[in-house]
Amino acid sequence: MAQIRLDKFLSECGVGTRSEVKNFIRKGLVTVDGFPVKKPEEKVDTDTSDVMFQNTRITYEKYVYFLLHKPSGVVSASSDRNCITVTDLLKKEGRTDLFPVGRLDKDTEGLLLLTNDGELCHNLLSPKKHVKKTYFAQVEGIVTQQMIREFREGIDIGDEKKTLPAQLKILSAGEISQIELTICEGRFHQVKRMFESCGMRVSYLKRIAMGGLTLPDSLEKGSYRRLTPQEILLLKMDCERMEGNDVSGY
Ligand code: URA
Repeated sequence: MAQIRLDKFLSECGVGTRSEVKNFIRKGLVTVDGFPVKKPEEKVDTDTSDVMFQNTRITYEKYVYFLLHKPSGVVSASSDRNCITVTDLLKKEGRTDLFPVGRLDKDTEGLLLLTNDGELCHNLLSPKKHVKKTYFAQVEGIVTQQMIREFREGIDIGDEKKTLPAQLKILSAGEISQIELTICEGRFHQVKRMFESCGMRVSYLKRIAMGGLTLPDSLEKGSYRRLTPQEILLLKMDCERMEGNDVSGY
């Protein structure tokens, strides 16, 4: 049960921007529990108030989930003084409570979830849950079969512990190699540091999957869409399934 302003309620439900919904309210287009309310600051209850806009019932969603195709140059934060953030890209949703599920580096592209569901976010990021993340990368130099074995064994990237077993797939090997790497941790700059420890530089990095979700080909850079109820369930199941998972089976 939460009491919030009527204009915030409506803008978070996607009825319009905050200033648009204020106008709608002042024009008498909104009723609460059957009565017109003309004050945007009037408090409503997100669970029990019956809010109608132009005779359509508006149901408040407590938790929302978005899948963003993060472009390079955008920072994974809720606010930043100097740079565009991932939450800026979802501004028109009118939700002020969104945060990214973990971070991608500024120059990394690809799948990033944004939500206001702190529990799911915590579970997806928990080191105990071992949720898999798959990256496509271009690496300067020849990635070898030996590296596949080393990545599977765990790599010393200068932390207290070696990395957990990771699955390296070579798509092409040459001056610039193309690979896919699946890891089940989220250490700082992990993919770049794993290759650095082999003396190689990652020149391009894109996350293509997280848990059971993959980045849809149709989703352009900078675009996003809501997760479907099935996808939300899938992510929740990923967290259950991964708890105590033995990742050495790669
Ligand atoms: N690993 C990295 O090095 N960078 C990212 O953005 C994500 C994983």
